[in-house]
Amino acid sequence: MQIIKTVKEMQALSKKLRAEGKTIGFVPTMGALHKGHLSLIKQSKNENDVTVVSIFVNPSQFGPKEDFKQYPRDIAGDLKKLDSIKVDAVFTPDDKEMYPEGLTVSVRVGHIREILCGASRPGHFDGVATIVARLFNTIQPHRAYFGQKDYQQSVVIKKLVEDRNFDIDIIVCPTVREPDGLAMSSRNSYLNREQRKTAAILYKALKHGEYLIKKGVEDAVQVKKEMEKTLKSEPMAKIDYIEIVDPRNLDEVKKVKKTVAVCLAVKIGTTRLIDNLIIQK
Ligand code: PAJ
Repeated sequence: MQIIKTVKEMQALSKKLRAEGKTIGFVPTMGALHKGHLSLIKQSKNENDVTVVSIFVNPSQFGPKEDFKQYPRDIAGDLKKLDSIKVDAVFTPDDKEMYPEGLTVSVRVGHIREILCGASRPGHFDGVATIVARLFNTIQPHRAYFGQKDYQQSVVIKKLVEDRNFDIDIIVCPTVREPDGLAMSSRNSYLNREQRKTAAILYKALKHGEYLIKKGVEDAVQVKKEMEKTLKSEPMAKIDYIEIVDPRNLDEVKKVKKTVAVCLAVKIGTTRLIDNLIIQK
């Protein structure tokens, strides 16, 4: 497994691979790898000749009061995991390499930056789009893999690719969950035992919403109210939002007549957790 730290070296490797006619699959991550990340990597390995994984905790997507400093970092453990599943190359730049002159030119996301997670994380999606654009230009993949778990992020990336004419297929992979339904996340490590138990309520609420929609309830307000009740059965869970949206553009849905994305964000203690289900009608 090659470990690459500079943009120049990474671009040279990609150029060589492309000249050899190899397809490159790319999985961007912030490390602290878990089975969710590994599922994206496995899919990339199945669909491409070469798989590149990046590990970079991107400062520009964290707000000033967010957990950038605290974010779990375990480079040694991550490299071991990646080596054991035979990833071809890992790109692990430092801040200077990705932002040599700070944030001079950045990507500004349209109205999607302001809804759902964007409402409580101003600038977050601009930071994500900015780093992903830089990573795309560095790795120059044919395909890039993202998790459904961060659904809004996947929509932002698809818009970025359309808007900037990146010749890259974006593939969104299913959410990998713990046995009690909690979506795997690097941030789950912040939860203490009691909070971890409480966190299963997110999935319960989503499944309840799914049950109601499948049963034929069309009024989104009613579905959201019922889901709110489920979440409130756990006093430790503080709701940030519950939204029912069009999966393509995240526009609010009032009457559920076709496939929707049901998305929520909940704080447990100081940890903010997100999850979603795409519900077909
Ligand atoms: P990170 O949170 O490390 O996630 C990397 C990728 O793994 C994302 O596409 C995310 O959606 C996916 N992922 C996380 N948990 C998952 C789960 N339980 N099941 C399936 N996929 C899961 O998302 C980021 O990093 C960053 O914003 C990044 C795109 C790397 C830009 O900095």
